[in-house]
Amino acid sequence: MSVSSRRRFLRQFSGSLLTAPILLSGAELVAAPRFGYGPNDSINLACIGMGIQGLNDVNAALQNVGVELVAACDLYTGRLERAREVYGNELFVTRDYREVLARPDVDAVIVATPDHWHDTITIAALDAGKHVYCEKPLVQQLDEGHPVLEAERRNEGVLMVGSQRVSSILTEQARELYRRGDLGQLVLVETYNDRFDALGAWQYSIPRDASPETVDWDTFLKDTGDRPFDATRFFRWRNYRDYGTGVAGDLFVHLFSGAHRILDSLGPERIFSTGGLRYWKDGRDVPDVFIASCDYGAQEGHPAFNMQLRVNFVDGGGGGTRTRFVGTEGSLEVDGGSITLSRKTLPKAPGYGGWDSFGTFSQAGRAEFERWYKSEYPPAPATVQEPDEWTYRAPEGYSDHVHHFGNWFEAIRTGGKVIEDGAFGFRAAAPSLAANTSYYERRVVDWDPAKMKMV
Ligand SMILES: NC(=O)c1ccc[n+]([C@@H]2O[C@H](COP(=O)([O-])OP(=O)(O)OC[C@H]3O[C@@H](n4cnc5c(N)ncnc54)[C@H](O)[C@@H]3O)[C@@H](O)[C@H]2O)c1
Repeated sequence: MSVSSRRRFLRQFSGSLLTAPILLSGAELVAAPRFGYGPNDSINLACIGMGIQGLNDVNAALQNVGVELVAACDLYTGRLERAREVYGNELFVTRDYREVLARPDVDAVIVATPDHWHDTITIAALDAGKHVYCEKPLVQQLDEGHPVLEAERRNEGVLMVGSQRVSSILTEQARELYRRGDLGQLVLVETYNDRFDALGAWQYSIPRDASPETVDWDTFLKDTGDRPFDATRFFRWRNYRDYGTGVAGDLFVHLFSGAHRILDSLGPERIFSTGGLRYWKDGRDVPDVFIASCDYGAQEGHPAFNMQLRVNFVDGGGGGTRTRFVGTEGSLEVDGGSITLSRKTLPKAPGYGGWDSFGTFSQAGRAEFERWYKSEYPPAPATVQEPDEWTYRAPEGYSDHVHHFGNWFEAIRTGGKVIEDGAFGFRAAAPSLAANTSYYERRVVDWDPAKMKMV
């Protein structure tokens, strides 16, 4: 395809994609309701875990048409009070998620608890006949993955995993460019999420009234062993392996899920990681600088390539998150709000001189080489070189989070498939958890991405 026709295509493509409807409209939905839903029926939602992401999730979910919040659950009383302040005093609130699952008026639940509760509540909710939106990472431990997938299989409820960038129109656009072959052969993916501030490094605010009276500490502990009440561990659970999954499960998982969607990849087959706790020595037992290298074997649609991932909580130099796909004919950079495609193909003529062995030839050897080079590579007619770079931005106000929820609700209403089902979510969580295994056990981890099992 010529540069100008490629550009024309991209503009058309970009235009049609970027103006695609984001929110569901009942009229567009196919009439194949599941669980007795009609396309226009309201979905009654509950949220288990009303912390930072629980609130974000509910707000994103409610921007889709025909969705109502009917119940909220949390272990800290202050968050239940907050839920009623925001969503009204009629809202059913409880500290016990089983009370939410027992309610017949709840169709669908969001699981936005700390990671160590994801599998238990997701399985219980599916078995109780609910649709489930489980926050990433799908599970905290590798061996928790298959039981969740089995619960998904044996129930009719739709399980969606909450890595919203999978639904992003930018991800979709990058995927189309990759599938069209604009990068040539993919050889490397480089991706990072860097920060340097206390909140970014998970030193979240602890409410002044935190106590064993306002917090259900025993339930929070689950099976992690007895321990006296500790507000820091409760409100900053990410910093402890007992409850969280470190920077790998928290942030690598987004990098994996976005890349897997763009590449239609099942995941890596070898994972090695290293890192350390360099700066945030506040009692946490997870690293704040973490680097992983992964081998992706040849899979249908693409040959083998490598992926390197980094999270650095000690980077004051700008930080941010970005993923770069490097191919033989170009590269594609994806960040939170835009994607940039840069094309670069090697010229046919390799050139000579400069940092080259040419200067070491004898005078006669150089003359002979030059004669040969000119006949082998006759100078091409001069053409105007245009920069081969295109940038696309998400439209103002676009939210992949709202879009991700829209995808889930559409699947609930139509009996269709979600974009991030249990297997997709586990295939993003598993290499993240394997990176933790590699770090703590100081070894390379072999993973079978098709069977989703350690080798
Ligand atoms: N998709 C994203 O971009 C994104 C962003 C942030 C967090 N998350 C995920 O969301 C989840 C929650 O993270 P957060 O930042 O909101 O944490 P948070 O600490 O702010 O909130 C978690 C809440 O869960 C409650 N909780 C704990 N155990 C519970 C249980 N058994 N039953 C009911 N409630 C329980 C706690 O009281 C707390 O209020 C994590 O798994 C995290 O990885 C996803």
